[in-house]
Amino acid sequence: MDKLCIRGGKPLAGEVGIGGSKNAALPALAACLLTAEPVRLTRIPPVRDIGTMEKLLAWTGALVEVDGGEVLVHAGELQNPEAPYDLVKTMRASSLVLGPLVARTGRARVSMPGGCAIGARPINLHISALEALGARITQSHGYVEAQAPQGLHGAEVRFERITVTGTEDVMMAAVLADGETVIANAAREPEVQDLAVLLTKMGAQIDGAGTETIRIRGVAKLRGTEHRIIPDRIEAGTFMIAAAITGGNLLIRDCVPEHVHALTEQLRQAGAEASEEGPCTLRVSAGGRLRSADITTMEYPGFATDLQAQFMALMTTAQGIAIVTETIFENRFMHVPELARMGANIRLEGGQAIVAGVAELTGAQVIASDLRASASLVLAGLVAKGETLIDRVYHLDRGYEKIEAKLAAVGADIRRVQ
Ligand code: EPZ
Repeated sequence: MDKLCIRGGKPLAGEVGIGGSKNAALPALAACLLTAEPVRLTRIPPVRDIGTMEKLLAWTGALVEVDGGEVLVHAGELQNPEAPYDLVKTMRASSLVLGPLVARTGRARVSMPGGCAIGARPINLHISALEALGARITQSHGYVEAQAPQGLHGAEVRFERITVTGTEDVMMAAVLADGETVIANAAREPEVQDLAVLLTKMGAQIDGAGTETIRIRGVAKLRGTEHRIIPDRIEAGTFMIAAAITGGNLLIRDCVPEHVHALTEQLRQAGAEASEEGPCTLRVSAGGRLRSADITTMEYPGFATDLQAQFMALMTTAQGIAIVTETIFENRFMHVPELARMGANIRLEGGQAIVAGVAELTGAQVIASDLRASASLVLAGLVAKGETLIDRVYHLDRGYEKIEAKLAAVGADIRRVQ
């Protein structure tokens, strides 16, 4: 089992390039199932979850060719519209193939995603939306089975709460449905918008992606195309916080400043410098002790829940008290006891963490529990006095491509040990 070993105290300096968005690449790969023609996707991040999705597409019968950050998917024949437990258990985003499979083949059998560290994460909203489009859905033996032998029909779908992959799933089902679908209370995330761009290039008719109401007029067939995935705003945000927490100065290339606007605002509030140096470039720097700043996670364009743990790490050594409120997931504070082992002073009260800044953190042995919690432990290790050893870094590998190499290249004392 790999571990990361970090010796803290080094301000980061230099440039870092951001990779493609994992959470845009996953629905984009699923969308390839909607056409019998080849789809070429570029800037696909070679992270573990992407590998799992590629295996899943191949399992259904698609031809998948991976060449570095380029993936060609040719779903000519889908003999096996199923997502087996062994693949789904390692990646809950497999529910993203439910909509495309039932739209393309009239049936789908997808293992129910287990919960994960951050919460129960049911897919009831995905299921009720697909039922509104005419799919008959049963659940048994841990699998969701969807049938639509006569195809799907357009419908009015209103999500009782905003769901990112729920919006993506039903969008991918609606593009081949007979008639118009309106999705109300839709997710507005950049990844949803990027999926709509891909589907439109494939011939879909979609309006309103990025707003709370998306209109889709179904078409009979979709064609192949090429598409470059947007940059990963969570990787960008993680490196922005790395610059701030180490009192360093980083140029973040290949990012979309607008996608990290909420974080940029909070970093400025905390006393860091954050400025755009070009359409795809941000510079973040900090000197001296930062001030505490409160955050409340919200759906996009609010503060991203996927950056909550990382920002909390930043607040552990800020001056004052920061209140971190998590509104999206019910159990997304698994990083708190690990940060406390490093000397952080954090008190949990319901959906809030009260972070009282301390002068310094000390290195310790800690355990990663989920993807973004592990990123917050890396950030804490970069500033802690002494050595931090992070166990179970496979969580980190699910969403970050060689994070230790990128951090070492800008001055961090970090290495992977067996
Ligand atoms: C996506 O997950 C992301 N994953 C998550 O990133 C991200 O944290 C999340 O959106 C919120 O931004 C991908 O895009 C692959 P939701 P998703 O459906 O779609 C509840 C990461 O670190 N809900 O928007 O699964 C759910 O339990 C991951 O890359 C239902 O109750 O999140 C949660 O409390 C972690 N029923 C809330 O809604 C449903 O049917 C928002 O979940 C669906 C969701």
